[in-house]
Amino acid sequence: AVAMLASTGGALAGCALVPGSVTPVAETEFTNELAIPPLAPSKVVDGTRVFSLTAQEGVTEFRPGVETRTWGFDGSHLGPTLRAERGERVAVEVANDLDEPTSVHWHGMHLPAAMDGGPHQEVDPGATWRPTWEIDQPAATLWYHPHPHGATEQHVYRGLAGLFLLDDDASRTADLPSTYGVDDVPVIVQDKVLDDDGQLELKDDGGEPGTLGDVVMTNGTVGAYQEVTTERVRLRLLNGSTARTYQLGFADREMDLVATDGGLLDAPVPIDDIRLAPGERAEVVVTMSQGETTRLRSVEADLGSVAAPFAMGANDAFDVLELRAADELAPSPKPAWGASEHATADALHEADASVTRTFELDEKRINGRSMDMGRIDEVAELGSTEVWEVHSTVPMPHSFHVHDVQFEVLSIDGDAPPPELTGRKDTVYLESGRDYRLLMRFDDYADPDMPYMYHCHMLMHEDAGMMGQLVVVGPGQEAGAPPSHGQRT
Ligand code: C2O
Ligand code: CU
Repeated sequence: AVAMLASTGGALAGCALVPGSVTPVAETEFTNELAIPPLAPSKVVDGTRVFSLTAQEGVTEFRPGVETRTWGFDGSHLGPTLRAERGERVAVEVANDLDEPTSVHWHGMHLPAAMDGGPHQEVDPGATWRPTWEIDQPAATLWYHPHPHGATEQHVYRGLAGLFLLDDDASRTADLPSTYGVDDVPVIVQDKVLDDDGQLELKDDGGEPGTLGDVVMTNGTVGAYQEVTTERVRLRLLNGSTARTYQLGFADREMDLVATDGGLLDAPVPIDDIRLAPGERAEVVVTMSQGETTRLRSVEADLGSVAAPFAMGANDAFDVLELRAADELAPSPKPAWGASEHATADALHEADASVTRTFELDEKRINGRSMDMGRIDEVAELGSTEVWEVHSTVPMPHSFHVHDVQFEVLSIDGDAPPPELTGRKDTVYLESGRDYRLLMRFDDYADPDMPYMYHCHMLMHEDAGMMGQLVVVGPGQEAGAPPSHGQRT
């Protein structure tokens, strides 16, 4: 570490940041069939679609013959894919069979703060929590994961995460591959460190940006391949890692980027690769020829203005997932739709913004403060449109996430965002030193006593306190006081 600090010269002078050590991603054979998380069963009771999820311990064989202790929902690692329609009312019975409190947060979901599954909705061991809400946002690839204060990194890293897919008329009528697990394939990308005994290791030396694993897996499968039987395949990419940023693409072809965090783009965009920081999603459509094989890989990421030591890991290049095309491929349409088909009634307009807030992120704090469960940091009025100016003041990136809303990136250093940041987002990679202006509106749900979180999604940072609390108040309401501890059920 000393040599690395020295080699960056002035960039880090006077700065307490320490880059972590990292082992390069190990070469692997792509000989294991990609695990597809099962679609979660549900039953409709009195008009509500009810799911259940149980957080539990288990054992997973990431490597043949090596038993790794892991956590999962309804299984030993990761969780089933929840799926619902816009307009449906859903409920999830969340049970905790672990020995410690956890929570389940619906990342990217627009819903009341008390249903959000953040640190104020911890579920005690043996308890069940049953949030319910109406799906009221465009089709998108969302996800769920624990959010217990100070322990999110551990819980996610051990394996607690899954997808939550939303459908609507636009997504169903768009020309997109849509047979789950066949030509519409979930790809949860995560990296891990397995110790000499094959157990998950999380570094706790504070090295930045956190644990960068030398084992990269997709849906929990190391060295995975997916058989492709159609001309086009849609990959729903989620960076579910605790710290690593990926730049995902193929060496030998472009992809059509069709959706980002909040749903479909106005039109598909051809791209070579896409940068995904922890928490971000992208849907891409890949075109295949009969009988060929190609690999999704992470290329050297364009980290922008990040000091070299903190780019470690993110600037490795390695393969992630192999696609193997069958000798005969069923035809599939080229993704296409007109912008007008997706013109949302809930468009955001900068001219409507009545509030501008500024967020400065240093190594562990936002605006100089650490997360305090009992403190409300920001109060927004129901229905108000706001501009958030967000900035990383340190020579390393962050991954900025806001609960409840899907925002628009207005500009980066005054310039229009690149095509992959033109759709709705709930998480955005913050290049060091750049000014990000985000536009959002707080609709539908006010609760003066229960906050939503905004935080860095690099989970070591989040747990270290890089998080703040926002309440949305209705007309004439004043912000109340949240409990200074989790409201356990
Ligand atoms: Cu995906 Cu507050 O988190
Ligand atoms: Cu961060």
